[in-house]
Amino acid sequence: MKLLVTGGAGFIGSNFVRYWLRDHPSDRIVNIDKLTYAGNRQNLEGVSPGHELVCEDIAEANLEEQMEGVEAVFHFAAESHVDRSIDSADVFVRTNVLGTQRLLEAARRRRIARFVLISTDEVYGALGDSGDFTEDAPFRPNSPYAATKAAADLLARSYFKTYQFPVIVTRACNNYGPYQHPEKMIPLMTTNALNGLPLPVYGEGAQVREWIHVEDHCRALEAVLRRGRPGEVYNLGSGYRSTNLELVQMILRLLDKPASLIRFVADRPGHDFRYALDSAKAHRELGWEPQIALEAGLEQTLRWYRDNHEWVRSARGDSYQQYYSQMYENREGYRQNL
Ligand SMILES: NC(=O)c1ccc[n+]([C@@H]2O[C@H](COP(=O)([O-])OP(=O)(O)OC[C@H]3O[C@@H](n4cnc5c(N)ncnc54)[C@H](O)[C@@H]3O)[C@@H](O)[C@H]2O)c1
Repeated sequence: MKLLVTGGAGFIGSNFVRYWLRDHPSDRIVNIDKLTYAGNRQNLEGVSPGHELVCEDIAEANLEEQMEGVEAVFHFAAESHVDRSIDSADVFVRTNVLGTQRLLEAARRRRIARFVLISTDEVYGALGDSGDFTEDAPFRPNSPYAATKAAADLLARSYFKTYQFPVIVTRACNNYGPYQHPEKMIPLMTTNALNGLPLPVYGEGAQVREWIHVEDHCRALEAVLRRGRPGEVYNLGSGYRSTNLELVQMILRLLDKPASLIRFVADRPGHDFRYALDSAKAHRELGWEPQIALEAGLEQTLRWYRDNHEWVRSARGDSYQQYYSQMYENREGYRQNL
């Protein structure tokens, strides 16, 4: 089979490329990735010859040409960092909305048999103390990132309703695992802890997130391709939920580092309080269940960041340092006890 993957040099996309070619070594994957700050060629080192990286922008590339002979598209490419979208939303609209529409249109013209859009639980907005989001919960995105993902998600719906184009949407909870950019919470906390640096926790760390190991997410995406129904949406959650503070404490415990590294810093504006997914539909219709428990998956992930010095060193290079210092070092609470 020949697949087209977008954003396959990023975190989830590169794990998916590795996952797919490991289990289907004779398949071919065309991977369109602009290699933004979040895309990294090193994420694809050692990947088999069945993979071809095309460095292009989905908002500009000749996508129909890239779809020659392709049977299925997995669309991961996005600007994905909420904090960056709060700073400047323009590129989020361009990539996440325009890029998705261009890809859907090219795939429709090419009559691609399946199009899987990787959406997010953030389209639903935030929950209070109780309840889970089902697939028919209303959209209430709160950040510019989430709003652009909601627009992409609705474009996918419209392509199914209007053109009967066979698109399937997945909405996953927070992912963790190897090859995640160190701006994101788990690699940021892990690499800071390994270097004895402060761990900036927003507010009181009371926000609740559901965490899925990226390998479980990749397995779910394969099940979506094989057994998902066109026009449907599937929540992909793990059931493992924790507050941000509990998660940071777990990281410190697993790395045997002191809790004194934690700094409570000024909260993110409009920070969603709680996300929780009802994933019963995916279990029932896809025959998929997550297999990796949070603590075991986290332990394996921390080991990966500890053992891959060269990857961490280059991912935490100059542009990361600049971002980090602008984002955290002058934030209220960061310099306490330093
Ligand atoms: N990480 C999570 O916890 C999570 C959870 C649910 C859904 N998602 C969704 O999964 C997808 C992948 O997330 P991720 O965490 O791997 O993101 P990431 O930021 O690590 O990777 C995004 C990739 O897209 C590429 N890209 C960005 N703009 C592009 C453009 N215009 N053209 C081509 N390539 C472009 C980047 O270079 C990068 O390789 C996103 O759509 C995201 O919204 C992520």
